[in-house]
Amino acid sequence: MKIMTRFKIYKELTNGISGTKKPLIALSFLKLWALGIGIIPPLLYAYLINSVMIGKNINKLWAIICAYILIYILLTVGIVLSKKFSNRLILKYDIKIKHMLLKKYTTIDSMSYNKFSTGDVKSRIENDTVVVESFFTDYFLEFYYDIIYSFVLAIILLCLNWQLALLSLIFIPMTFVVVNFLGKKTKQAGEKLWKINTKYETFLHMTFQNWKDVKINNLEDKLFEELNVYYKKIRRIWFLNQIYWHLGLSFSFFQRNFITQMFLYFVGGLFVIKGYSEVGTVLVFINFYGQFYDLIKNICDSIIRLKNDSVNIEKVIEILNLETEKKANLPIIDGNIIVENLSFKYQDNDEFVLKNISFEVKNGEHLAIVGESGSGKSTIAKILSGQIIPQKGNILIGGVDINAIDSKSISKKISIVMQEPTLFNLTVRENLLMVKPEAKDEELTECCRKASIYDFIETLPNKFDTIIGEKGVKLSGGQKQRLSIARAFLQNNDIIIFDESTSALDSEKERDIINEIKNLSKDKTLISIAHRLSTIQSCDKVIVIKDGFIMAEGTHEELKGKNENYDFLFKKQYNNWYRKNMSI
Ligand SMILES: Nc1ncnc2c1ncn2[C@@H]1O[C@H](COP(=O)(O)OP(=O)(O)O)[C@@H](O)[C@H]1O
Ligand SMILES: [Mg+2]
Repeated sequence: MKIMTRFKIYKELTNGISGTKKPLIALSFLKLWALGIGIIPPLLYAYLINSVMIGKNINKLWAIICAYILIYILLTVGIVLSKKFSNRLILKYDIKIKHMLLKKYTTIDSMSYNKFSTGDVKSRIENDTVVVESFFTDYFLEFYYDIIYSFVLAIILLCLNWQLALLSLIFIPMTFVVVNFLGKKTKQAGEKLWKINTKYETFLHMTFQNWKDVKINNLEDKLFEELNVYYKKIRRIWFLNQIYWHLGLSFSFFQRNFITQMFLYFVGGLFVIKGYSEVGTVLVFINFYGQFYDLIKNICDSIIRLKNDSVNIEKVIEILNLETEKKANLPIIDGNIIVENLSFKYQDNDEFVLKNISFEVKNGEHLAIVGESGSGKSTIAKILSGQIIPQKGNILIGGVDINAIDSKSISKKISIVMQEPTLFNLTVRENLLMVKPEAKDEELTECCRKASIYDFIETLPNKFDTIIGEKGVKLSGGQKQRLSIARAFLQNNDIIIFDESTSALDSEKERDIINEIKNLSKDKTLISIAHRLSTIQSCDKVIVIKDGFIMAEGTHEELKGKNENYDFLFKKQYNNWYRKNMSI
């Protein structure tokens, strides 16, 4: 990415985030305050040597001491106020930027979201924002202040002794050239470090998430081997990064304390001996030059560090610039679904997963989608609930194009219950209330009864207030599914899609729940993706899907024994049952 100017970075980072201007203005005033006062001590020093020591005047000595004390007090007040404003700036911005990033992540369309790994998201929100926060004070305010201060000092140096000033300036370009070179190298190493760290975080996250599988499959050794590879890579790149960084630091140290200092003592000494300058003036010159050199060094350091940190800053800006969904907030009127010529392929895959699919579901109808694993059933569910956008085809739900409306409008009308439902490490109640915060206890109880999960909740130590663990680990697969069905009942939307959401239940429980679903859903549009015949038999329509194509469509009665794809699916799973009921 091209290197942006600091003003551009500032604009990008505060786009849509208020509250940074006022503290920055206050801090600028305080900086100028410090600048004005900071110039006085070396001048007092010259006065002390030339008039008091060489001129032997004791009265003036008292005045100088008082002036020093006053300057010290004024400077301290400035520093305390600066700390106060910079802390306020950082604390406020910290909350706002994290909020903004999370908002972006939740409002971008799901295809863009899928591009980011968990490690990537985590490091952008947690690590990169820390760097961004120091940008305002370290890289922005401090940088411009250093430039202004160094200009002021350059003028003072020229006024004190222009010949000495010009001679001493020859060291400055050398600093810039070396520092710029090292800066580029540091940035390259910084980029590599970010990438490898992100991969490492994702790896760790996956490992902890799948810890059970790791143990069951005895993968610990393999994992540690892989971790070691990461550590070695990270250590190598980090080491390189630090080498460049310290080379830069040692170079400036050597130049300031050795080359420049010696040179100035030598030339300044000659000036005094030849009578071109007074002792006090030369000493003050060296004092100011020290400050001037430090400022130039700060400016160079800031350039190197910004090059290094711009890797993190760019990552945050990239998210802030992501296009959020700009879709209409249109109500879906009813549960009529029309799908026409729908084709879909996942990103980075050449092959279409769904191929020219068309079907219709009338308001209040129950549709079943059946097909072998991997045939594209869940993909249809994801498209109908607006999670992914198809490359081709029209989908009209309740008269509106599903891809033209925002996710809020969709979630008001369509619920999706998945095979592996999304549950949070909160209480049972909180997991339920997510879809309807105002729901009363009686409503919760009723929905849980209907989803056959109430009795189980009653056995939990804190009943509805029991925390269910990360991703619901304290619940079995079937309990998770029933809880999420209860959540769908609570939401009471007009269209409900069940994507193998009863697959982990035994047949008896499944039958009970399905009866409840049917009772509850007399006027609702239901789409069940299922693999058990008991679920499908009473549906108004069944679609058989294979390799992304619709192979057959009709009622159970129309298909059984007449469609080989339909029969094949169930013969495999329910040989005995099938033989008895289908009389084959
Ligand atoms: N996020 C994804 N990225 C890439 N390919 C995917 C993704 N999800 C599913 N697929 C592929 O799409 C095909 C259909 O998957 P899916 O709709 O989940 O099938 P089903 O639900 O019928 O088992 C499969 O071949 C699967 O590998
Ligand atoms: Mg599926």
